[in-house]
Amino acid sequence: MSLREKYVKAARRQSSNNVDSFTSRWKSPSNIALIKYWGKHGNQLPINPSVSLTLSECATDTTCQWVRKKGPSNAIDLTFSFHGNPAPTFEKRIKSYLESITDLCPFIHDYNLAIDSSNSFPHSAGIASSASGFSALALSLTSMEDELYEDLDDDDDYRTKASYLARLGSGSACRSIYGKAAWWGKSHLIEESTDEYAIDFSGDIHDDFKSMRDSILIVSSGEKPVSSSRGHHLMEFHPYRHDRIEQVNLHLKDMKVALRTGDLERFGQIIEQEALSLHALMMTSTPGYFLVTGKSIDLINSIRAFRESESVPCYFTLDAGPNIHLLYPKKFENPVMEFIESLDSDTDVLHDQVGVGPVQLK
Ligand code: PMV
Repeated sequence: MSLREKYVKAARRQSSNNVDSFTSRWKSPSNIALIKYWGKHGNQLPINPSVSLTLSECATDTTCQWVRKKGPSNAIDLTFSFHGNPAPTFEKRIKSYLESITDLCPFIHDYNLAIDSSNSFPHSAGIASSASGFSALALSLTSMEDELYEDLDDDDDYRTKASYLARLGSGSACRSIYGKAAWWGKSHLIEESTDEYAIDFSGDIHDDFKSMRDSILIVSSGEKPVSSSRGHHLMEFHPYRHDRIEQVNLHLKDMKVALRTGDLERFGQIIEQEALSLHALMMTSTPGYFLVTGKSIDLINSIRAFRESESVPCYFTLDAGPNIHLLYPKKFENPVMEFIESLDSDTDVLHDQVGVGPVQLK
């Protein structure tokens, strides 16, 4: 029986607590992938495993208020607001997500649901909020399920279910459920790994990574010309698909060792190759496209020159966008700050760091 079948079967149970109204509130962070997920198949399953560090400051705070409907219903009654204001585009996306999981969470039909969400980072910063947004929402759905059925035996069950639900909203969101580091995707390197949800990977990493800094250099905050979801689909017939999967397997093996031993140099080589491979895949898709700009490349060159001249272990990575994530150990904060201050004054910077993961506020 697949995990979905198991969850759907469990969702059909009849007896539940009598809940007329319920409020849950979670604050959940974004994450930065060290090994990138790029390409999917089936229902939001990755073509390769990925590994990420969980951030702290870039987070979404989501409150879900559930009020039981008077009678039976097959409709989804949702109002969604963003920073307290109606947000019809987000509302549409959330509604179709909720529709896609009613077999897993049938209680969605029984309640009027009001969601209010806000990001701790400026919407205009060009930071992807789908990982923090869908992880916060999935945790709230899991809280409601637990309130109704009390059958998620322990924190592991709870997190697994939340990660599973988050993945169905946005792949990378399934990794944000765990603090510090997460692994998503089946690999022979980790027995319990699976494509269906992410697992906690914080136990196997060196202290340098647990307090790592991520200064995000904002290159552009405009709308992306090509969405991640389109980018994933373009991997289906990509000429480098096979080689990409081979490269990931090599990177995973070395990254696992580098994270455990604190090998910053190998860590840095891999994250930079991962970032550049991701963008090379975009450039060589059919049709090909650029998300990096000339400024992204200038910053990459400045980072490399600074690293060489000052012997400071700071390395860049990129998401599906032009912004540069500069990763470095906490103990190198001072020289890196000086470097950042020396950059062109119109580069906005968001300073973040590895964090403890989602927090339940209600
Ligand atoms: O979760 P999505 O569908 O937004 O895809 C995210 C893909 C990358 O951010 C580029 C890589 C990753 O693993 O987070």
